[in-house]
Amino acid sequence: MTAPENSDTPISLPRIGDPAPSFTAVTTEGTVNFPADYAGKWVILFSHPADFTPVCTSEFITFASMQAEFAAYNTELIGLSVDGLYSHIAWLRTIKDKISFNGHSGVEVKFPLIEDITMSVARQYGMIMPGEDNTKAVRAVFVIDPAGMIRTIIYYPLTLGRNFDELLRVIKALQTAETFGVATPADWRPGDRVIVPTAGSCGVAADRMDGRVDGVECEDWFFCTKEISADDVEAGIRKG
Ligand code: BEZ
Repeated sequence: MTAPENSDTPISLPRIGDPAPSFTAVTTEGTVNFPADYAGKWVILFSHPADFTPVCTSEFITFASMQAEFAAYNTELIGLSVDGLYSHIAWLRTIKDKISFNGHSGVEVKFPLIEDITMSVARQYGMIMPGEDNTKAVRAVFVIDPAGMIRTIIYYPLTLGRNFDELLRVIKALQTAETFGVATPADWRPGDRVIVPTAGSCGVAADRMDGRVDGVECEDWFFCTKEISADDVEAGIRKG
């Protein structure tokens, strides 16, 4: 379904496990049909409040400087604000020509930035939170998998810049869970022990608790972990 091209689009909030709402949009890299153009790839679709604002500028420099790292995990970036295309172009040129942040300067933003002056996409994705601001998108992050399903949603308010190490960690954790059939505990990073699926029978629970399953260690029958080395994680998920 293509979103109606006006701001009457109701504000909706897609949920984890839903298909990513589809739209066609003009971007700084040409027209995008979302999510069809990204089939087979992970995508981080994110919104920012406005062009030519400092927190957003710091975020774009950081995202752009990490684009190759995300691409190594088959992950593409696509941004959105409710500004128009010419504003986006002017802002991205300014970032490249004039702005330094955290040791990065001359940064060229090569991922698409969606123009959404009608707020059609922003409303479809629940990026407008009227209690925070009626006319600007909050800092939303949607992680969408290669099948076009929403796998993670994170929101930040206007004044809080995102943590990009966390966004990369989310990508690695989602892909690790899928590749190895495990879950990842609090603060997991590649190389930390992972959670094995909870025993589905008394026999499996007993085997694990009695140490009969190689490499699996249990705190209790429902909380068992195993090692996957950082090298094995990287070998399993890294594509580039
Ligand atoms: C910023 O990106 O700096 C910003 C944008 C909107 C409200 C507050 C800060």
